Amino acid sequence: MKVCVLKGGSSLERAVSLRSAARVEDAVSALGHEAVGIDVGQDLVGVLREQRPDVVFIALHGPGGEDGTVQELLEILALPYTGPGVAACALCMDKVAAKHEMRAADIPTPDWAAFNATAFRELGAADTLEEIEERLGFPLVVKPASQGSSLGVEFAAGRDEVPVALLAAFSYDDRVLLERYVKGRELAVGVLDGEALPVVEAIPREEDFYNFEARYEIGRTDYVCPADLPDEETRRVQELATSTYQTLGCSGFARVDLILGDEGPRVLEVNAIPGLTDTSLFPMAAEAAGIDFTGLVERILTSARERPATLPA
Ligand SMILES: Nc1ncnc2c1ncn2[C@@H]1O[C@H](COP(=O)(O)OP(=O)(O)O)[C@@H](O)[C@H]1O
Ligand SMILES: [Mg+2]
Repeated sequence: MKVCVLKGGSSLERAVSLRSAARVEDAVSALGHEAVGIDVGQDLVGVLREQRPDVVFIALHGPGGEDGTVQELLEILALPYTGPGVAACALCMDKVAAKHEMRAADIPTPDWAAFNATAFRELGAADTLEEIEERLGFPLVVKPASQGSSLGVEFAAGRDEVPVALLAAFSYDDRVLLERYVKGRELAVGVLDGEALPVVEAIPREEDFYNFEARYEIGRTDYVCPADLPDEETRRVQELATSTYQTLGCSGFARVDLILGDEGPRVLEVNAIPGLTDTSLFPMAAEAAGIDFTGLVERILTSARERPATLPA
């Protein structure tokens, strides 16, 4: 079988993608298949036409690769690809749209308010900030609707910090959300073919409340899998993750990020193409379930080949 591994691209998560892809290419080769890495760019369609792969492994993260764009091209080329389909990718990449779907399906997600840049520029949206702040309370979290890896995610401890946080978020995306801060344990649940993997907990070594990006540097956070939770809580969190995956229409695999607060788990977001590097949470969870990385790649390839295409034949 020939597997083209899509990697790189122009998103801010390019570096993570290259690391995910290197590992995937090794696993594809270890499975006895032919692996062809493709750094995606202008010539993508031509290269794919020439290569004629049996399946395409999408190891791209962030806008462009994870938001349905590449998936749509692959549908047109009638090439099977890994991970969720076009619609699910588009939903997961837009935190606001995803939260609306969750709310409609009674999946608990922190309360929020969203704006796009036009609302600010042309409709005086800034005049509603006071109501929003009152409703959500402080601290609150400001984030761009798209992006990942905590890029552009900021806390505002009080009213005076909101404008700067909004500006930062708007520098990443035209759409931002303000979200109620949930205090609790940070969990991530990988879902493989609709089945939840063991729960991962991210435990920051020092409570560095304001600097998120630093929090994710190697060595500043400990990851525990399976998370130390009572069985009943584990089941509840896993069920919530699988129902979120289904609600957003995911297939293949995805990772659900949650916070377990005093009032129960709250879903923050779903990553349609979670990181697959050697420090990433999804492979760690698979490992805890007894699925090594090569076995994981095999499962993902199989489900890609079994998923029906979205476009009519
Ligand atoms: N509402 C919230 N309450 C508390 N912490 C949050 C909240 N939203 C985000 N965070 C923190 O920011 C991190 C990144 O937010 P997330 O919504 O998962 O976006 P990203 O796509 O950048 O991963 C989370 O893992 C969590 O640590
Ligand atoms: Mg996240």
